[in-house]
Amino acid sequence: MGGENGKGTREVLPEHVAVIMDGNGRWAKKHGLPRNLGHKKGAEVFTKSVEWFADRGVKYLTVYAFSTENWKRPKEEVDGIMSLLKEYLDKAKDNKDKNIRTLFIGDKSALDKSLSKKMSEIEEKTVNCSRITVLIAINYGGRNEIVEAVRKIAEEMKNGDIRAEEVTEEYLSSKLYTARIPDPDVIVRPSGERRISNFLLWQAAYSEFVYMDRLWPDFSEKDVDYILDEYAKRNRRFGAI
Ligand code: IPE
Ligand code: IPE
Ligand code: MG
Repeated sequence: MGGENGKGTREVLPEHVAVIMDGNGRWAKKHGLPRNLGHKKGAEVFTKSVEWFADRGVKYLTVYAFSTENWKRPKEEVDGIMSLLKEYLDKAKDNKDKNIRTLFIGDKSALDKSLSKKMSEIEEKTVNCSRITVLIAINYGGRNEIVEAVRKIAEEMKNGDIRAEEVTEEYLSSKLYTARIPDPDVIVRPSGERRISNFLLWQAAYSEFVYMDRLWPDFSEKDVDYILDEYAKRNRRFGAI
């Protein structure tokens, strides 16, 4: 299991890894740079990390790129993050050739129309890609996601399409941004913080947590092996014995 086996040969492998890409600001500060250069480095590391996880056979990678709370940051920083997103979207056209299915989770309605249009185009273009599915959480909040799902169901009830007793866990799951995506097996938080910060609240019910002191822009291929080895050591019980 795990260990020095290297790429793609592990017996116990998480199907879905989720990462809170945190620590860009502290990385920039440590190097005497403006915060937005930390985000730039973080975005570069994200692109590489997709390859590292895919090479090892992980089928779903969800990354937290911008939360519903991150709008509280100075306009200059938010604008910088949005222009990095735009740069990424322009490059992500190649994801089809790389066989990377690309999805976006979060409330797209608050984003610039040109961005949300590009996001939908990439989702459509990569729909049949099968090497790995990457979910990028932008303007994402776990509570917001649940509220949106409840609103959809309330609307259906009002129209008489569904009865209260038909609302099951599976049904609510099917109304989330992550419908049809398996729950994350492991949630990783670099940067030394040990909290969930409104990420995948519903989906995290039985996820394993891996915390790392590394700042996200310093994240490397070795850290991917550490996460997969750590996961392989865990004993998941899902409430049974
Ligand atoms: C994560 O890095 C990126 C976003 C939240 C957009 P931070 O910007 O939160 O970095 P720190 O936590 O300030 O170091
Ligand atoms: C979580 O990090 C959001 C992202 C990484 C996109 P934050 O830096 O926003 O979280 P807090 O404020 O430390 O909880
Ligand atoms: Mg942070």
